[in-house]
Amino acid sequence: MTSTPPPPSEKKDKPLSSGGKDTLTITDNRTGKQYEVPIENDTIRALDLRQIKVKDEDFGLMTYDPAYMNTAACKSRITFIDGDKGILRYRGYPIEQLAEKGNYLETAYLIIYGELPNKAQYEKWVNDVMMHTLVHENIKKFVDGFHYDAHPMGMLVSTVAALSTFYTDAKNIKDPDSRKLQIFRLVGKMPTLAAFAYRHSVGRPYVYPDNELSYAGNFLNMLFKMTEVKYKVNPVLERALDILFILHADHEQNCSASAMRSVGSSQVDPYSSTAGAAAALYGPLHGGANAEVLYMLDEIGSKNNIPAFIKSVKEGKGKLMGFGHRIYKNYDPRAKIIKQLADEVFEVTGRNPKLDIALELERIALEDEYFVKRKLYPNVDFYSGLIYQAMQFPVEMFPVLFAIGRTSGWVAQWEEMLLDADQKIARPRQIYLGSGSRDYIMMGKR
Ligand code: ACO
Repeated sequence: MTSTPPPPSEKKDKPLSSGGKDTLTITDNRTGKQYEVPIENDTIRALDLRQIKVKDEDFGLMTYDPAYMNTAACKSRITFIDGDKGILRYRGYPIEQLAEKGNYLETAYLIIYGELPNKAQYEKWVNDVMMHTLVHENIKKFVDGFHYDAHPMGMLVSTVAALSTFYTDAKNIKDPDSRKLQIFRLVGKMPTLAAFAYRHSVGRPYVYPDNELSYAGNFLNMLFKMTEVKYKVNPVLERALDILFILHADHEQNCSASAMRSVGSSQVDPYSSTAGAAAALYGPLHGGANAEVLYMLDEIGSKNNIPAFIKSVKEGKGKLMGFGHRIYKNYDPRAKIIKQLADEVFEVTGRNPKLDIALELERIALEDEYFVKRKLYPNVDFYSGLIYQAMQFPVEMFPVLFAIGRTSGWVAQWEEMLLDADQKIARPRQIYLGSGSRDYIMMGKR
């Protein structure tokens, strides 16, 4: 399965329930018994398998699904993906329309509250978020304590966790007003924490938020302001960053969103859960792939070397980074938008010379049988690193940028989990294959 199961509106000719016929009949050949298990939303409940036993005292049948390749762990109304068709929608709105016509804070509101805001709602939301961009002065002391070459993502993970010690009210996760406030704080403060981490790593003084600027504009200010009294935001770069935040805002049950839900299911505060989610994003298989694309393009060096590189990939000597996706078996819709965005950014920053290699690589790969047969297309990371680099972001900041955009998705997933009556503390089962019971042996006799 490569897609989110379609929402009810997508199921054209098949009602959700067909008068008791939507069932799965299972015959247990061990006992000859038959079981009728209901099917809802093309899914059976794993717990319904528990009744399948050989003896009464048996635990009952379980499913084995490492990496959750075919297990729906929740019902969600936030993000829909059709990986075969290359479709991504937030709350039903196509990503292309949101990226073209919307902005990040409006999209964050949509993701968190379920509907696009009207003018009054939007203005209040922007105000609520921007009112919370400042962090406690002590946060600066934490950041100062990091080594000069500390990775900014490590600093972000730590400082967002530390926020829980400043906002002890955040543990009231059952109080809707408290949740609302923590969401303002998280969406508001993530860019500040990210910018402080960056400024520390380059040895520059921290820049306080300027709430007269937009969300993306203020972030650029906190990163790049030098001695000028007021930072002048380049509108093209501001818009590009805003679009990149939109494209990264949510992607349903990916590794970091699952971490957010799983940690949050213990009813810990949302700062601790966000730290868990950001830690998951830090890994090279999740938020780190766009940096790998840049290293790969550097290694290829020139267009002339592309055929030899493709040959080596086909021989299994490495991967074409930025290609392929667990869910998308088509062009990642975000990659299409980013490719267009690259031209606009390069008009301001100058063309990233690696773009020509990337374009040629893509052209050759999309015609090559190896990639066609395996349905390997460019993913969101193929072009995003080129834009970030052109905008002067060091490679270490790439996952940090991802985390800022993704925070709205994490908090939406977290709140949806808390309000879902089906959910409990996340606690998977295991198949125990270790030793049977044995007696302790004194150390001298081992
Ligand atoms: N280059 C070359 N071959 C590839 C690539 C690639 N980028 N991706 C997959 N393949 C091949 C595999 O070797 C495998 O071939 P085989 O059938 O001959 O063994 C086949 O395509 C299927 O690949 P899987 O690894 O089974 O696909 P999976 O869904 O497990 O992996 C993943 C998806 C991890 C994204 C993979 O495509 C990959 O490593 N891509 C490069 C890294 C990357 O760009 N990651 C970013 C993903 S987007 C994101 O996380 C925000």
